[in-house]
Amino acid sequence: MFASVALLFLVLLLFLLLFQNFRAKGFPPGPRAIPVFGNLLQLNLESPIADLEKLAKRYGNIYSIFIGSRPMVVINGLQAMKEALVNKAGDFSGRPQDLMVNHAVQMKDHAPGVILADYSPNWREQRRFGLMTLRNFGLGKQSMEQRILGEIRHITKVMEDSIGTIMSPQMLFHNAASNIICQVLFAKQFDYDDDFMKYFVTVFHETSKIINGFWGMIYDSIPMVRSLPLPFQRAFELFKGARERHLQMMTEKKKTWVPGKPRHFIDCYLDELHKRGEDGSSFSEDQLCALLLDLHFAGTDTTANTLLAAFLYLMNYPHTQERCQQEIDKVLDGKDQATFEDRHQMPYVQAVIHETQRMANTVPLAVFHKTTKDTQLMGYSLPKGTIVIPNLSSVLFEEGQWKSPHEFNPDNFLNDQGEFFKPEAFMPFSTGPRVCLGEALARMELFLIVVTLLRKFTFIWPEDAGEPDFTPVFGTTQTPKPFRMKVQLRRTDTTNLNHTLS
Ligand code: HEM
Ligand SMILES: *[C@@H]1O[C@H](CO)[C@@H](O)[C@H](O)[C@H]1NC(C)=O
Repeated sequence: MFASVALLFLVLLLFLLLFQNFRAKGFPPGPRAIPVFGNLLQLNLESPIADLEKLAKRYGNIYSIFIGSRPMVVINGLQAMKEALVNKAGDFSGRPQDLMVNHAVQMKDHAPGVILADYSPNWREQRRFGLMTLRNFGLGKQSMEQRILGEIRHITKVMEDSIGTIMSPQMLFHNAASNIICQVLFAKQFDYDDDFMKYFVTVFHETSKIINGFWGMIYDSIPMVRSLPLPFQRAFELFKGARERHLQMMTEKKKTWVPGKPRHFIDCYLDELHKRGEDGSSFSEDQLCALLLDLHFAGTDTTANTLLAAFLYLMNYPHTQERCQQEIDKVLDGKDQATFEDRHQMPYVQAVIHETQRMANTVPLAVFHKTTKDTQLMGYSLPKGTIVIPNLSSVLFEEGQWKSPHEFNPDNFLNDQGEFFKPEAFMPFSTGPRVCLGEALARMELFLIVVTLLRKFTFIWPEDAGEPDFTPVFGTTQTPKPFRMKVQLRRTDTTNLNHTLS
């Protein structure tokens, strides 16, 4: 009896020693971690990374936690962020390769796409191609601006049908953002109730909840359970379905592809593939499929949630909304529609959009990075392969970087002459080599949509809606709590009328 208890005790001790989570000398400090679970049990698993504020307060700008036996280092503040992501970019631009999100999204090892691809020549090549193509080269006759304006007509129509009523903008903005990226990828504009559209809105919504919630943490911490029929399997199914739909789209577009005459992203990619050949290059049809998912995914929730935040603030700061409208009316006087160039004449609107982006804090922890070699950060030592979490919120609200760090205030982006300027700490798209690949597109969307809608409509916080709650719902991409808006028509389209008369 005694012997077996002793044996059990010994085994347990051995187990604890083997799976001990300890911090090496020089590693950033953090709370004590227990074997197997790490700091998992100390976190609220429904939104595991939401309640780490106390840790930053206690351990400083750079601290570590263990998710299972995996150490992660959180970076707070502009100074540390710049040192890591800009000055030591090469050391800090990797991506973790063995988290749930990798296994769910990346079906094939040789085709990692771009978002989750590790820091490598292949990633660089795919990223450069993606940037070039989105930058209006290659995408055919129709400019990016026209594609966006085309979708805005869609949105305007829905708004017009809502005049005088109270509407929920959630689905509308998600559909619109998804449709804009679909036009880029497939030159196809879907009806908002199309099954293809609906499927992707579901995939993006549901999978991010699973991956960033309780079940994702369990998957990442305890490898033994990965093949069990637990709720995380749903994310795998959904991504599989997404991939099948993209594959089908690709096959369909390939049939009508004419080399050298690109109509959309798929054609551009096929042209490039044709030019290079599959051998010895990072270009392949699998890679194209991975890119479609990456761009579709990255371009939908982010933009939609930022738009939602923008309108939430505009409604609750009616004077700000009115001042935007005056500037818009003045600059667009006599013009049919806004162009992205008009932003240079609209410093106030620019400031408001940037300020809503700051407050929206849409991607609070960016996408996780990884160190590519043993390196140093602010005096700490980080071994190769350490997961690094850039806390973008900590910079967007950092005291000392903003005129009013905690309140909504467009003056954060206006100098004494009322000119627009962008503080260094404005990094909702992150910074360094991994900075958002869709930044230019997203900025164009935000500007054109906000300007066009404010020109035509006034948005009012419904009287019965109570006090607004600006605290977003935490997630990889954050979203404002659902709200409704009252839509009023401002102007009949006098410019169009003048055209017909003259
Ligand atoms: C307001 C809208 C958007 C916000 C706030 C946003 C934000 C971000 C952030 C924070 C990252 C992570 C950067 C890092 O790891 O340090 C990122 C990456 C990325 N975004 Fe966006 N994004 C937006 C819209 C878009 C759009 C419209 C597209 C698609 C065209 C897009 C495509 C990507 C891609 C492909 C990456 C991965 C880049 C890489 O790993 O090299 N994003 N974005
Ligand atoms: C990121 O920074 C914000 C603002 O300083 C803080 O509230 C939040 O807890 C931080 N998140 C993490 C994961 O450290």
